[in-house]
Amino acid sequence: MADIMKAPRGTRDILPGESERWELLNNVAQEIFGRYGYSRIVTPTFELTDVFQRAIGQESEIVQKQMYTFQDKGGRSLTLRPEGTASVVRAYVEHNLGASGPLPVKLYYGGQMFRYERPQAGRYREFWQLGVEVLGSDDPTLDAEVISMLNEFYETLGLKGLVTLINSMGCPECRPAYIKLLSDFLDSAEGLCPECEGRRKTNPLRIFDCKQPGCHETLKDAPKISDNLCESCERHFGSVKELLADAGVQTEHDEMLVRGFDYYQRTTFEVQSGNLGAQNAIGGGGRYDGLVEQYGGPPTPAIGFAVGCERILLALGDNIKGEVAGLDVFIVVIDHTMRKDAFRIARTLRAAGISCDMDFTGRSVKSQMKQANKRAAKSVLFLGPDEFEQGKIKLRNMESGDETEVSTDSLAGAVKGMLV
Ligand code: HAM
Repeated sequence: MADIMKAPRGTRDILPGESERWELLNNVAQEIFGRYGYSRIVTPTFELTDVFQRAIGQESEIVQKQMYTFQDKGGRSLTLRPEGTASVVRAYVEHNLGASGPLPVKLYYGGQMFRYERPQAGRYREFWQLGVEVLGSDDPTLDAEVISMLNEFYETLGLKGLVTLINSMGCPECRPAYIKLLSDFLDSAEGLCPECEGRRKTNPLRIFDCKQPGCHETLKDAPKISDNLCESCERHFGSVKELLADAGVQTEHDEMLVRGFDYYQRTTFEVQSGNLGAQNAIGGGGRYDGLVEQYGGPPTPAIGFAVGCERILLALGDNIKGEVAGLDVFIVVIDHTMRKDAFRIARTLRAAGISCDMDFTGRSVKSQMKQANKRAAKSVLFLGPDEFEQGKIKLRNMESGDETEVSTDSLAGAVKGMLV
């Protein structure tokens, strides 16, 4: 098959059959996030490149290697969003959302993200995230609420075998001293990959993101940020862990967890699934208390997370079946000259809230019945010329096989009566 007939590498089509599973995921998210007081925000799929560079960090893997950046015809540098947080914060500052209502502002979003990564199972160049961002509070109770809501989301979907890793990244008070400590350690460390050799001077924390076994091994002996927190961060982290334990949310402290974004401060977390192989992170997030200020907004502590839809569906396997909604009625025409009558009847039924469809290709009655079965129709209306002339149509209950003749004047009522 010519390449033009294939979706680009690292992207995929979500076809009927699978799209119902996606819808279910979205519905569960919407229901749970709504119950916790979140409102939806929709931001553009691309932003000025600087929006992401500033938030995510120049030394990050995402900014260095994974962004889809292009120049538009007006000479602007634009980037397809690799994540949602930067855009939400940009929108929060642009529209001064903090001033228009009580804080914190709770927002959720869903949509495609784009990262130029090497595609493999569970890793795509275009993928879907559902995420939340809460802006305007640094209270540890909020951290606990956000993490336990994430937990509830996974539980509702029926995901099993998950581990929630948690760490604290410190704050501008305690991080500089820690970075100095880490740099001193790295000065005499051996076994770093060439890229991390470079990061050693520019952004040593990013070395924790490196997947190279040599770097990982070296860092095992490195000083850890969570052992070097200031009193306030220490207290904050302690409270978050305590509140989560009280709420029955199991977490594991992973002192190597720094996550791939420069914007994180204090609480960070990541949820991993036991049955996904290498791409096992099904969601992650953390606090980004300084980010709103970086965009010129007022000091605004904030926290959020995003989950990867493809990975969640992979982890669920067949355990999630999106309901393929069956039709209420399929209209079978015995004589094809009656298709215009079927069209009129379909309009009347739909206007009454009844889902219905009909044949448009001139199939035989037998294959129209097959079509009705394929569409899981609960009932079938048979439009025959003789009955129709007398103002009657045959209605069959597809479950029981019972048939009745109903009047064309009261079709909607008759169908509804049969559906209950
Ligand atoms: P992230 O950890 O980069 O965080 O992405 C969140 C989730 O998106 C991952 O846990 C994973 O499930 C999914 N994901 C990431 N990359 C890919 C990929 N190439 N293919 C498939 N799925 C992928 C963020 O994006 C942060 N913005 C989260 C956040 C929100 N932090 C604070 N607020």
